[in-house]
Amino acid sequence: MRTRDLLSIKDIDRAEAFEILDTARELSRITDGAVKKLPTLRGRTVVNLFFEDSTRTRLSFEAAAKRLSADVINFSAKGSSVSKGESLKDTAQTLEAMGAELIIVRHGSSGAAQRLAESGWIKAHVINAGDGTHEHPTQALLDAFTIREHFPEHRQDFSGLHIGIVGDILHSRVARSNALLLTMLGARVTLIAPPTLMPLGVESWNVESSFSFDDVIPELDAVMMLRVQSERMNDAFFPSEREYARDFGLGAVRLKALKKSAIIMHPGPMNRGLEISAAAADSDQSVILEQVANGVSVRMAVLYLLMGGAAVPTEGVLV
Ligand code: CP
Repeated sequence: MRTRDLLSIKDIDRAEAFEILDTARELSRITDGAVKKLPTLRGRTVVNLFFEDSTRTRLSFEAAAKRLSADVINFSAKGSSVSKGESLKDTAQTLEAMGAELIIVRHGSSGAAQRLAESGWIKAHVINAGDGTHEHPTQALLDAFTIREHFPEHRQDFSGLHIGIVGDILHSRVARSNALLLTMLGARVTLIAPPTLMPLGVESWNVESSFSFDDVIPELDAVMMLRVQSERMNDAFFPSEREYARDFGLGAVRLKALKKSAIIMHPGPMNRGLEISAAAADSDQSVILEQVANGVSVRMAVLYLLMGGAAVPTEGVLV
C-alpha cells in the first residue's frame, strides 16, 4: 500500500482495496486456527485515540493490534486531560512521546484525522476510525470484506451486485466511505432515505438515490441499514419514530420482500425497532455479527500493511 495513513477511501485505489481484503482473508485464515497471534508487530506501539464513544471499532482495533503482537495504549477523551482543555495536538504529541508509532483516531469533527496526519505535529501513521460525518474507511473495508465472503463469484469484481444503503445518509460517515469503496469495486449502490436525510450534492457521489425503500428492496443483494444518529440531529428530520420505522425501517413485511439470497447489514450500534426490527437483525439473512468478526481481520490487514508488512506470513507462529 502506498499511503502512510488511512484517512479516507480516497487514499487507496482499487488494487490496494483488494490487497487489503486479500490480506485480511489470509490473516483471518491464519488466526482462525489454534494460533491466534502473529509476531509481526512485536515491539511496535499502537494507540487508540478516541474522542467519541465506540464499542466495535476501538475493541476490534485493540484485538487486531494484539493479534499482531503490538503494544496497545487506549486513550479515551472522557476522564483525560482533554476535559482540562488539552488540544488534539498536545494530546497526540504526548502519546507519540510515549512511543506511539500509529495512532487510530476517532473524533467528532470531520477532518480531525486529516489534520492530525497532515499538520506535521507527529510522525506516527494515522488511521481514521470515524471523523464526524465525513468518513469511516475501515468500516467500509470490513463491509466489503463481508459482502465478498457471501458472494464469492464477485470476489474480483462487485459488478452485478446491487447494494442499498438505507436511512440517515446525511449524518453517516459509514455511508460516505461505503459509497466510495463499493462503487470503486464495481457495485451498483442505491442510497435510500427521506429527502431530509439525503445529503445535498449526492448527485456527485456516483450512486443512485431513491426516496422509496419499497421500490428498491426486491432488487437488492445487500441491504445496509444505518443507525439514526439522534446525537447529531439538532432539528427534527422526520415527523416521528413511528413514521420513520414505517417508511424506512427493515421490518417483517420488507424482510419478506428481500431476495432470499440477500444479506442484511448494519454497522452498529443498532436502534432496534427504529431502523431495524429484531426479526431482521436476528434473521438467518443477517450478517451483522459477521461484520464485527470481520472487522478484526480487516483492521489487522490495515495495521500490517501500513506498518510495513511486505508479504503475509504463510504460517502462524506461537508467541
Ligand atoms: N460501527 C461502529 O463504528 O461502531 P462503534 O461506534 O461501536 O465503533
